[in-house]
Amino acid sequence: MQSLLNKKIILGISGGIAAYKCAELARLLIQEGAGVQVVMTEAAQQFVTPVTMQALTGNPVYTSQWDSSVANNMAHIELSRAADAILIAPASADLMAKLSLGLADDLLTTLCLARDCPLLLAPAMNKQMWDHAATQRSAQRLIKDQVTLLGPASGFQACGEVGFGRMLEPIQITEQLIAFFQKKPLTGKRVLITAGPTFEAIDPVRGITNLSSGKMGFAIARAAVEAGAEVHLVAGPCELATPLEATGKITRTNVVSAKEMHTATMQSADCDIFFAVAAVADWGIAKPAKEKIKRQGRLAPNLEFIANPDILMDAAKLVQNKSGKLRPYCVGFAAESTDLANHADEKRKRKGIPMIVGNIGPDTFGSDLNQLLIIHEGGTKKFAKAQKLELARQLIAFVANKI
Ligand code: C5P
Repeated sequence: MQSLLNKKIILGISGGIAAYKCAELARLLIQEGAGVQVVMTEAAQQFVTPVTMQALTGNPVYTSQWDSSVANNMAHIELSRAADAILIAPASADLMAKLSLGLADDLLTTLCLARDCPLLLAPAMNKQMWDHAATQRSAQRLIKDQVTLLGPASGFQACGEVGFGRMLEPIQITEQLIAFFQKKPLTGKRVLITAGPTFEAIDPVRGITNLSSGKMGFAIARAAVEAGAEVHLVAGPCELATPLEATGKITRTNVVSAKEMHTATMQSADCDIFFAVAAVADWGIAKPAKEKIKRQGRLAPNLEFIANPDILMDAAKLVQNKSGKLRPYCVGFAAESTDLANHADEKRKRKGIPMIVGNIGPDTFGSDLNQLLIIHEGGTKKFAKAQKLELARQLIAFVANKI
């Protein structure tokens, strides 16, 4: 799946050591289906060559407004007319200052002033430069002028210092650009998601768990942020990175047991939509041993199980959330080995929820692909086999229509 298919992106590069990451950024944008046209400032060419960027993008690189090979010598106008967005990465303090004042003394700044498409900047600079009142003023002005800032992040800097000013990683910039282009039906909505498995300790080294990679729940979290929501993700033990973390639109609570997941979920149930995607263990161990249980020949220990709380059912029972609004719109998930439609619908009614999503087919665990059967109060709908992220986007659009 290519999330930037047919999008034409002008990739502006200004002078900063992070410019070396542009090669990777261009490659990722192209992988997602975008056409990339690079424009470089003079300073940028001290860090990366136009030849490198030309070879990666397959397009000539523009570096000057005085290029007589461009018809009418109007590159600054013609380039942006054909573009869906201008993305500048890295955006130096100097470039941000110029753009915030409307200065246009080279091709890239002139292009930005003459543009009729969105402008996104990924700032990259030393932390003192970022913290400087002048740069902060530039940033505020640019935001007021509808320019989107991606980052910067905090972290280790090329100069050896640590702090804010680090450019987001190319993959983060790409994912935020993708998010920028998605429809925003969940703006102003709060979405809660449980994802991954839970783990019920038997003793400090053993436990029982369910099969779940967390991929579907994390894909829904990403799609919800893309759609404009504020997301809280309650994740069982899994290795996945928090999607779109750098947007500041997503928070994550890591939990281990079903009980912990129940507590974390109920604390955040003051939301508009709740997706219960986690594969919650049905039973926990009544009294997990404090020390490792020693093996006694071929004798198996007698473990006492207790039923775990049903998180989804409890959320669905909420009459009002803390703000006095009606309970969240609850969406459950079902993985069945037989007769998916009937079992899932029975589950939907038993749990008192308006919608349940059935995983079709046995091969969804850990895979990037899935097929879904949506069963809701008004009928059913099938989402054909696709990447989990694509299905998550379809599901978000479908649910956004119901609330
Ligand atoms: O009852 P069952 O586990 O088959 O139902 C699956 C749905 O219920 C999923 O949405 C799952 O996240 C949710 N669930 C839950 N708490 C449990 C068990 C399941 O939230 N203890």
